Amino acid sequence: MTAFPLSIDDTQSRLEALDYVPSRELAATVFLALKLQRPLFLEGEPGTGKTEIAKVLAQMLGRPLIRLQCYEGLDMAGAAYEWNYARQMMAIKLSEGASDADLFSERYLIKRALLQAIDPSQPVPPVLLIDELDRADEPFEAFLLEVLSDFQITIPELGTIRAPAPPVVVLTSNRTREIHDAVKRRCLYHWVDFPTLQRELAILERRVPDAPKALAREIVAFIHRLRQLDLYKLPGVAETIEWSRALLALDAVVLDPELISQTLGVLLKYQDDIAKVSGSEASKLLNEVRDTLRAAGFMG
Ligand SMILES: Nc1ncnc2c1ncn2[C@@H]1O[C@H](COP(=O)(O)OP(=O)(O)OP(=O)(O)O)[C@@H](O)[C@H]1O
Ligand SMILES: [Mg+2]
Repeated sequence: MTAFPLSIDDTQSRLEALDYVPSRELAATVFLALKLQRPLFLEGEPGTGKTEIAKVLAQMLGRPLIRLQCYEGLDMAGAAYEWNYARQMMAIKLSEGASDADLFSERYLIKRALLQAIDPSQPVPPVLLIDELDRADEPFEAFLLEVLSDFQITIPELGTIRAPAPPVVVLTSNRTREIHDAVKRRCLYHWVDFPTLQRELAILERRVPDAPKALAREIVAFIHRLRQLDLYKLPGVAETIEWSRALLALDAVVLDPELISQTLGVLLKYQDDIAKVSGSEASKLLNEVRDTLRAAGFMG
């Protein structure tokens, strides 16, 4: 286990050392969340590094990552714990005298993510990722409150289990619905926006180091131009990375309209969006992008 970062700068450089390039604001929020031992609540555009930050934090702090992927219908049994009825039945059959106290002991407890995260028998407090909370039903948030505010879970048959040291908690949401204020109040909040051109270029340099500089600039500028269009789903950083890899696989050195049209399926996942950008529109956009780059002094 590694110590928490000492400052915002330290947070930023330690994240960057693991190829995660945060905005200054995100580095500040991460630093404070760790310092104040509060959960980090990240909402934002898809594919902008919300899930990834939890993975990188686990690596940075030398802690295991425990991930709870939320989904419709997720309940306490799926998220925290369940009694192992089959084993309990077996125990009853094998020994006539098994008492309730024996049956409702830790032996028969199936620990799910939330309980694992606060389990006192864990040698190191983990990083707990509660991913895509907006996919879970609203009542699930009520379950979460006890965990998030006191880092404890009460099991009626067993008592209250409390984390000896709080886990680092990261919650994410894609904002398909609003998360309840009571949950948000316990967290530090940050909206993860699309990166600036410079930051996206820095991300690309780290994630796809083989991409020629000129191509990387065109890729990032083109994607920034796409994000200004009225598309059903805008490409995220994940798409920037994927597209760069695809273009490299095709031995591209610079963008051209044909190349763009051939690879749009990496960037855009809706036919309407693809139709809007392919063909002559692609060359028009590319020309605009080149003008912008030239104006910024990036091209001859
Ligand atoms: N700031 C960043 N620095 C480095 N890599 C990044 C950054 N932001 C995003 N990425 C990369 O983009 C990809 C997508 O990130 P991630 O899966 O965390 O997005 P997300 O916000 O969780 O998306 P979704 O909302 O779709 O779940 C990952 O491969 C990640 O490495
Ligand atoms: Mg995610």
